[in-house]
Amino acid sequence: MSTESFLVFLGIGIVAGGAYLLGRYRSSQAQHGPRPSNTGSSQDETPDEPGLTDGESTETGDVLEDFSDSVSWLPDAIAILDHDLNLIWGNSMAETWFGFSTSEHAHSHFGELVKSEEIKQFISGKGYPESLECASPNHPDLILRLRFLQYKNRQYLLMARDITQVKALESIRRDFIANASHELRTPVSILYGYLEMMSEKKRSGISSEWKQAIKHMHKQTVRIKQIIEDMSMLSRLENPDTPNPPETLDMVELIESVSSNAKALSGKRSHSINTKVNSRYDLLGNRSEIESLLSNLVSNAIHYTPAEGKITIKWDVKSSVGTLSIADTGIGIEKQEIPRITERFYRVDSTRSRNTGGTGLGLAIVHHIVNRNDAKLRIKSIPGKGSVFSAVFPSSRIQPNDRSTDLLFG
Ligand SMILES: Nc1ncnc2c1ncn2[C@@H]1O[C@H](COP(=O)(O)OP(=O)(O)OP(=O)(O)O)[C@@H](O)[C@H]1O
Ligand SMILES: [Mg+2]
Repeated sequence: MSTESFLVFLGIGIVAGGAYLLGRYRSSQAQHGPRPSNTGSSQDETPDEPGLTDGESTETGDVLEDFSDSVSWLPDAIAILDHDLNLIWGNSMAETWFGFSTSEHAHSHFGELVKSEEIKQFISGKGYPESLECASPNHPDLILRLRFLQYKNRQYLLMARDITQVKALESIRRDFIANASHELRTPVSILYGYLEMMSEKKRSGISSEWKQAIKHMHKQTVRIKQIIEDMSMLSRLENPDTPNPPETLDMVELIESVSSNAKALSGKRSHSINTKVNSRYDLLGNRSEIESLLSNLVSNAIHYTPAEGKITIKWDVKSSVGTLSIADTGIGIEKQEIPRITERFYRVDSTRSRNTGGTGLGLAIVHHIVNRNDAKLRIKSIPGKGSVFSAVFPSSRIQPNDRSTDLLFG
């Protein structure tokens, strides 16, 4: 776990603990009202939610008022909701960003207080399991990251953090990469064109010494062109505004075309390329993205598998889950490297990868495509035996068809 995640969890733990006590205290006050000091009314207590005794109530009340004062000035928003999602308490940031007032709106349903469908869905648990990034309902220029936690089965803690600046920086970085790769494309294409012309075999007037240098420069411009293409593709994929409408993809057709490209790429290395396709199901995915995913994984399989090795491209659907996988009998990847290989520019063995022309951006592209098409990437590998890269798609992305009753071809 990273230090940042640890601190976030620690913070959530402390706030949740304090908030739980505060919530209990507030609801205990709401249920019972201020108790006369000499009653000690233990008959009010329910077995699963014991009330506070008088001494405890006063002492806990003081501690919690202090806690409430401190928490109210945190730069993050915190709101406590009861099990019916009614507001119990919110700090001043929560009041500002969500547009309510604890004193006026305590016990009102949070979904009615907050005019945002996304937030309503989020707190009712529909669709967003972990966190939600959205505009502040009361200050639409602010972007918030929301977390929603249930604790003690009785109450909920809604936390929000202002991530407007983080998002602005992300967008500056994305624009910079997109603009830089766009600007580099033309000059590099011109260099590439001239070097291509000069490296033609029949061209005379160039000494053999220079021929070698030109060949080398030509090879490097091909590499730079590829890096530029990959970087601009990555910035497009990273941009949430880039559309990627799903289409119905006939997997038989798609995998056949990938397989014939793979044979061409393998060339004299004569890999055995096999396909296994469950043709009764189509995939709902963005065509150009899924094609790029397949071509990246297949080209890796070819690059990292010795000549005459076996590569299998497979599409299967079981229990409503679709799996698109590329298996090879290549060099494999050490277990400790697997979590890092989808990082940009990460190569297990940069010398070998450079020899194959690799830049280390292919799997970063795959990672983004998988996320953008609601899938999960699974990687299994045994060094010296081979690897399997699978994109696992949920049922919402699978569509039965009536084109064929064939199960498999290969
Ligand atoms: N099928 C595979 N078998 C073994 N190692 C692999 C396989 N696929 C990827 N790798 C390792 O993961 C690294 C990252 O792969 P990635 O596709 O991102 O970059 P690359 O292939 O080096 O370059 P490119 O950007 O041209 O694809 C590779 O350098 C390689 O070390
Ligand atoms: Mg690659």
